[in-house]
Amino acid sequence: MKLFATSLLAALLALPAMSSFAAGEAAPVAAAAAPVMAAKPDLVKGEATFTAVCAACHGADGNSGTPGYPKLAQQHPEYLVKQLQEYKSGKRKNAIMQGFAATLSDADMKNVAYWATSKKAKPGFAKEKELVTMGERIYRGGIADRQVPACAGCHSPTGAGIPAQYPRLSGQHSEYTAAQLTYFRDGVRTNSLQMTQVAAKLNDKEIRAVSDYIAGLR
Ligand code: HEC
Ligand code: HEC
Repeated sequence: MKLFATSLLAALLALPAMSSFAAGEAAPVAAAAAPVMAAKPDLVKGEATFTAVCAACHGADGNSGTPGYPKLAQQHPEYLVKQLQEYKSGKRKNAIMQGFAATLSDADMKNVAYWATSKKAKPGFAKEKELVTMGERIYRGGIADRQVPACAGCHSPTGAGIPAQYPRLSGQHSEYTAAQLTYFRDGVRTNSLQMTQVAAKLNDKEIRAVSDYIAGLR
């Protein structure tokens, strides 16, 4: 096994030298390796783009102070890139973000995502005392009789998420989280089948409760 892994690595490292392959002739491993070989993110360029274009809404350090604009700081870069690509392609719909994403190349997206990831997320607070118990129950245990799974199972008990697939949620503005859960439920946000199924059975009060709990989660 070890020998195999080593020779695969060697093959991957040798790839740039193999660029003289005729089109169509390239081994399947070359296509699979493309993301591995992609250039490192340029954090200086990422910061420049973020400061010039994104900071006005998402905050100078990715910690937006406005409830409708999500915090991006410390979010997993793969998740951020996926969202930007899907705004650009129209798979995730939002008039504001589709416009901004359209101006970004793949490299810009990667640079800006890795820069946002490098910023520390500021914690938030739960505000609705009478809903917090309900919110915690849903987050940690789901709703068994309606087959709503525990959020913690995918987003982790602390809400830090599980890279690369499951995004960080903790500390996010409750207004933004509640809006997204409603969009998933009502078929407005259609870029995650898993989340469409999770949100399908939540009522408005449960969405408010779990979103408020998530805002204070750390
Ligand atoms: C005019 C305000 C505004 C600007 C400027 C802006 N955004 Fe946004 N952004 C939003 C809003 C509003 C949303 C939520 C949209 C939705 O509901 O899908 C959002 C959502 C996002 C998301 C999805 C976050 C998540 O948790 O799923 C990403 C990623 C993002 N923006 C990145 C950027 C980047 C990168 C830039 C700069 C190139 C930028 N935004 C500029 C307002 C803005
Ligand atoms: C089976 C795994 C799974 C479970 C369980 C789950 N999620 Fe998710 N969730 C995901 C995935 C995957 C995404 C990323 C979707 C995407 O790529 O656009 C996501 C995204 C989200 C988002 C969007 C984040 C953003 O920044 O826009 C919110 C909000 C969210 N989940 C809340 C919840 C809540 C609340 C629960 C519990 C009621 C829950 N999730 C349970 C898998 C899960």
